[in-house]
Amino acid sequence: MHAIGIDIGGTKIAGAVVDELGGIVRSSRVPTPVDTAALEDAVVEMIGELEAGERVDAVGVAAAGFIDAAQSTVYYAPNIDWRNEPFREKLEARVGGSVVIENDANAAGWAEFRFGAGRMVSDMVMLTIGTGVGGAIVAGDRLFRGGFGAGAELGHLRLVPNGVACGCGQHGCLEQYGSGRALMRMANEIADAGGIGQSLARAREEHGALDGTIVGGLIAAEDPGAVAALRHLGRWLGEASASLAAVLDPQRFVFGGGVAVAGELLLAPIRESFLEHLPARGYHPEPDFVIAELVNDAGVVGAADLARVWVEEHA
Ligand code: BGC
Ligand code: NA
Ligand code: ZN
Repeated sequence: MHAIGIDIGGTKIAGAVVDELGGIVRSSRVPTPVDTAALEDAVVEMIGELEAGERVDAVGVAAAGFIDAAQSTVYYAPNIDWRNEPFREKLEARVGGSVVIENDANAAGWAEFRFGAGRMVSDMVMLTIGTGVGGAIVAGDRLFRGGFGAGAELGHLRLVPNGVACGCGQHGCLEQYGSGRALMRMANEIADAGGIGQSLARAREEHGALDGTIVGGLIAAEDPGAVAALRHLGRWLGEASASLAAVLDPQRFVFGGGVAVAGELLLAPIRESFLEHLPARGYHPEPDFVIAELVNDAGVVGAADLARVWVEEHA
């Protein structure tokens, strides 16, 4: 049984036909339109294109927002203009078959649990570090959704009282200290301060502004300013992970999303800060910290697999 998974990201929409073992049969990718009507058109077009000539039994669409328990409505999206968006109804009216809406990080986390870095554990937490910070919780081999569907919004854990304003309407959320956007803010601060920020400042002047590609390139070249910004980000993520461990006690934390390509340079400060903040440290087993294995495919593979599960359960 093949399923289609679509993953709507901040910069691109990725889609694929996925088999039962999480293998990608064919795939497609387009830039994410800013306008929500154009975004919907792009998703419909991609589903049509992927479906052509295939026997597809389920379609899962992963979106960056708070989703209801019926996996149908996007209650709220902090970084997209969706408020109580009946996305499933709209898509089903246009594509003809049934469509299941899933939180993007839940989809990625599920894919890692089934086919990637979480295969060997029963309890894992995934944090996706991209435009926002997404969260997925697998507890006792099951994806945790909460009572109304919108649980595991780990990017909106409060880290800093009266901290930086967040797209969710609150202040001081993890998303404002642990996301790709937060990394840009930190890189700009380090550039402003001079010293180790010299290369960042030079790159900013040359390109007009810092972006993920520029800062990512400097991190890969182990530029001290860019690595310091990443370290800052990692320390916040580690602190949040310590609180999450106190609640969920996972065997493993998995980090995905664009920023996770930094690998060990990101994990090292996370581990360090995690241990500094872990309650009852030294008296109970500690989780390990790894980078996601499915990288760019996690969202589409997870969305497809969860749609397949949904169709089986509702058959
Ligand atoms: C949203 C989440 C999403 C995450 C990653 C957050 O701002 O609230 O629903 O999973 O960004 O895209
Ligand atoms: Na989530
Ligand atoms: Zn928030």
